[in-house]
Order: sequence, then C-alpha cells, then structure tokens
Amino acid sequence: PTAKVIKIKDSTEHRERRVKIQGWVHHLRREGKKLLFIQLRDGTGYLQCVLTNLLSSTYEAITLTTESSVILFGKVMELPPGSHHKAPGDHELIVDYWELICGAPSGGTYYILDKKSNVDLQLDNRHIVIRGTNTSKNLKAASLVTQLIREHHLDRGYMEVHPPCIVQTKTEGGSSLFELQYYGKKAYLTQSSHLYLESVIAALGDVFSIQKSFRAEKSRTRRHLSEFTHIEAEFPFITFENLLEKIEDLVVSVCDRIKNPNNPLGQLVFEINPDFRTPRRPFKRMSYTEVIQYLKDNNFKKSDGTFYKLEDDISEGTERTMINKINEPILVCRFPAAIKPFYMKKCSDDPQLTESVDLLMPGVGENLGASMRIDNYDELIKAFIEKKIEPSTYYWYSDQRKFGSCAHGGYGLGLERFLIWILNLDHICDACLYPRILDRYKP
Ligand code: 4AD
Ligand code: MG
Repeated sequence: PTAKVIKIKDSTEHRERRVKIQGWVHHLRREGKKLLFIQLRDGTGYLQCVLTNLLSSTYEAITLTTESSVILFGKVMELPPGSHHKAPGDHELIVDYWELICGAPSGGTYYILDKKSNVDLQLDNRHIVIRGTNTSKNLKAASLVTQLIREHHLDRGYMEVHPPCIVQTKTEGGSSLFELQYYGKKAYLTQSSHLYLESVIAALGDVFSIQKSFRAEKSRTRRHLSEFTHIEAEFPFITFENLLEKIEDLVVSVCDRIKNPNNPLGQLVFEINPDFRTPRRPFKRMSYTEVIQYLKDNNFKKSDGTFYKLEDDISEGTERTMINKINEPILVCRFPAAIKPFYMKKCSDDPQLTESVDLLMPGVGENLGASMRIDNYDELIKAFIEKKIEPSTYYWYSDQRKFGSCAHGGYGLGLERFLIWILNLDHICDACLYPRILDRYKP
C-alpha cells in the first residue's frame, strides 16, 4: 500500500495511518531476539520506531548501527498509557518494512562523543558531534534566536541590507585585520559592516544587517572567534539616550519573543537554560569612569599588580568577574576616545570621552558595542589623523558628512556571545556551527 512521506514533527497528525519516514538512527535498543527499538532522528524531532517479529533473514536489522540512514514504513500508533518504552513524544512507529540507505561504522561516533574532555578531538569531528542531542539543540536555539532578532528589526520597520565582506577599509583598528589579495591588490575581510550602514541611512532610514565580521584574534579565550555573526543597526536623527533605549528594546524584545508560546522552539531555550529570564528595563547604567572606580573599590588589579586607570582597556577576565558579581546587564557608557576607534562622537561636555556604550551580560561580558558617530566633516578628518589613518580610501564615508549630515548612531551585537548569555553556555564554540578560532579552520 502507498504511504505518505512525513517528517517526525508531523507524526501526531498521522495517527493510525501508514507513513514513510526517512532519517538517521539516533539510538538503538534491543529487547530479546525479536524486538528492536530505533530512536529515529530527522532534524525535526525524534520518534521511537519498533521493529517486531524479526526473522533471522532480516540479518541487517541485527547489525544496524547508530547514525545509519534508513527508510521506515509503518503505522503511527499512540503509545499505550503507562507504556514502559521510554519514547520521546506520545507516538511510535510500528514498522512493517524498512530499508537501510547507508550504514555507519559501529562504535565510531560513541568514541568521539564520549571523549568530551578532548576539545581538539571534539572540534576536529564537529561534523559528527553536531548530530548529538545537546549540540543539535544549541544549533536549533541559534536558528530561533537569529529568526527572532531579524523579526524584531523588521517589526520596528528597519530595512535589511547586505554590505560587502571584502573591503578596503579598517573599522576597529589594524591589529585584528585579516589581509587578502584581491586581484593583485591588498584587501581585508570586514571587521564590521557599520561604516556601510552609516552610508545607507540617507537612502533607507533605519537599517540593519546580519553579516559575518572577521577579527584576527591572536589569543584563545572563551568568547573570541575569528569569524562571528554580527547583528548591526544604524539610525539617523537619534540622540545617545535614544540609542541606549534601542539597545534595551532589542534585548528585551528578543527575550519576550522567545517566551511567546507561539514560538514552540522557545521551549528549547528553557530546556537548555532553565534560568533564562527577560532582564528588566531600564538596565543599570555606569560610566566608564564609574567602572574604573568600582574596580578600585573592589580591589581588582591589572596583571602588573596596579589599579586600572581611565585610559586602560579592562581585561576580559576582570570584566567577566565584575559583571558576574553585579549579575545583571549593564550599559557601560562614555569610554575614553583614546581606547576607542576613530568614528565615535566626542562628548560635548568632555572631548576626551565618547558617546559610546558597551552592553555587558553576566556569564559573557561585552555582548554589544555601540556609539554615536562623528557627523562633522572636519572633526572626522581630525579623528583620522589622530588615529594615524590615511583618509583617502574612506572618501565615501567622509562624503556622508558633506551630503546632508545628521546626528546618527548604531550598535553591533555578537550573535554567538548573545547565545552564550541566553543559553548559559561555557564556551563560544558551543554557540557556533564550525568555529573559527586561533589556528583552526577545519572542518
Ligand atoms: O565592539 P565591536 O568591535 O564593535 C563594532 O564592531 C562596531 N562597529 C559595532 C557597531 O557600532 N555597529 O563589536 C561588536 C560586538 C561585540 O560587543 C561582541 O559581542 C562581538 O561584536 N564581537 C565578537 N564576537 C566574537 N568574537 C569576536 N572576536 C568578537 N569581536 C566582537
Ligand atoms: Mg567592543
């Protein structure tokens, strides 16, 4: 008889009907000589499939291994109440015919998945590891969060654009640039799309992009990737206060969308991180000057044993210890111009400081960077010179200050770091499909 091809997530709707399901053997359990339970995985879910009355001629059933791909035919049946099978969901498939598509080496995946402590082995075999229950859950949650971030921006009426990744200009400073040859000429992989977003606001108004950014990070940390997913937005005619509100709006709105029951995948986030909560607005605000004072008051010191000063960048470890102690999101405002990139607008009451902000999240530290931008032509050229940048390749960026300039600003959120916070992950590699970290670009 014919059977409809279905996905596991839809199996409930096909109760009592004969269907065809294709997928991978996630787990395998034998009971006696005649009963075989397959936990089938097809990406949309897991389904217990029961092979009964196995004859000795169905030899392959006996040698079936996990991670084999199979086609199963059978009837979807409700699990009997108090059923002793430990099956996911309320249904199982009573298989009447099956085919092996491709087998898998026995024991191969267990070897990899069990050696959790061997990080390099795990990363070398990430193409296998991602099939595991926990890792695939993280990837699904990442898909949901990306979708909700995009939805948030579209709902607010921001227009999505796709700036180039191969660029001539540096945005965040020379030390983390990846250089490449572009038809015999020097080019870079982009560190941020925001200079391009600035150029688009006069055409499209509020804009955003979800694009890869690249940073040659020369050390291994728990939160640095060489290639990360950057969510950036830029807004014309706003004030610094408006920018802070937009950052809070982004975080709170994405969290609320996760909790919305219309998002069935949202449940996954709570499975991964039962403590997940929407933070309350307004977020705690501190100036960088106050943060430096806080570090002193709480006896945080630099690696050389002295206290932090205003012109110091706070180390990653110190930043994380501090934010974990404060244990709520904070907006750190008004960084010194000396430790920030060229494009940030100076504070009108103190030109040593900038209208800039970093959002710090417990468990991860810096999760978002934002600022108002210099909107005056002469000031911008001065800023290039101060940072020893040759302005000529930035002609299109400077032009914005000649053709109808306006007060504007924007933010950049690191998706993988946001996921560390939402899912309470240990390491940024857990938030990433195929992480690019120091010395690693396989698989
Ligand atoms: O603070 P950053 O460098 O700011 C910018 O690139 C601005 N142009 C953004 C803007 O105003 N549009 O980076 C922004 C965020 C960081 O807060 C962090 O979450 C993430 O991008 N990020 C990284 N994530 C993972 N690995 C790295 N190496 C990262 N570098 C930055
Ligand atoms: Mg930053």
